[in-house]
Amino acid sequence: MPFDSTGKVSLDHVYTEPDPRPYFATLRELDYQLPQLAKPYFAKLIEERPQPTVLDVGCSYGVNAALYRCDATMDELYDHYTGEEAGRLDRTGLLDRDRALGRSRGARFIGLDSSAPALEYAHAAGFIDDAIPADLERDAPTEHQAALLAGVDLVVSTGCIGYITERTIARIADMPDGRRPAMAHFVLRMFSYEPIAESLAALGYRTTGVAGMVKQRRFADPREQEQILDALRANGVEPHELETEGWLCAQLYFSEPVETRGQP
Ligand SMILES: C[S@@+](CC[C@H](N)C(=O)[O-])C[C@H]1O[C@@H](n2cnc3c(N)ncnc32)[C@H](O)[C@@H]1O
Repeated sequence: MPFDSTGKVSLDHVYTEPDPRPYFATLRELDYQLPQLAKPYFAKLIEERPQPTVLDVGCSYGVNAALYRCDATMDELYDHYTGEEAGRLDRTGLLDRDRALGRSRGARFIGLDSSAPALEYAHAAGFIDDAIPADLERDAPTEHQAALLAGVDLVVSTGCIGYITERTIARIADMPDGRRPAMAHFVLRMFSYEPIAESLAALGYRTTGVAGMVKQRRFADPREQEQILDALRANGVEPHELETEGWLCAQLYFSEPVETRGQP
């Protein structure tokens, strides 16, 4: 498997397919479980807010929204997209089946991703209500995108920090009317949340890191593990026992607005 510049295996090809079957087939092999472990944290934040609009940054095929709205588990989604029936369906059939999934919980979801095919699928399946196909590392939001972002109450992400940096996050947080959404990001330990926390602090946020490790997925092979452990040590981070046992791990960071522009 090819590696990206950070030392992780490159899975980029599964994020740009017309439907999520390659994503689920590949990530199942790696025991990818972060969205499942993130779900209770996101659910609590959603349910603390009256009818919130949630922005999932790097939402891909709308996995976090599907887990929440359909009250599904990651294992159920793995079976759903890699089972025999999924193998017989074309994209239209797959979408029809997804649209028929029960939605037991309400919240408005907006997905932001640089992968147009993944976003189109998430939107057509009804997992997200609005799609923002954008690379805010590179571009400022368009007027329409800024209008959608202005209505966001809560920003979440799994597996996306690293691909995106403080540049994207500050663009999302820095809305012209001074309204600031709360944020919850699961961040691989090889990436520092510090630059994001600093740029959010300048916008009136306070950041708290939640103690403890969350399993993201298994290392693809010993070479990936060695490269990631080396990267951790190079950043002054001592590998955790889960990492030496074979798991790529993430930490959760909450960033909350403590003041609104114009209000002390
Ligand atoms: C590792 S995947 C995580 C997907 C999903 N959140 C999950 O947990 O399965 C990273 C996602 O970030 C997206 N991405 C990468 N670079 C991006 C950028 N500059 N702006 C927005 N999305 C980006 C990719 O297209 C991909 O969907």
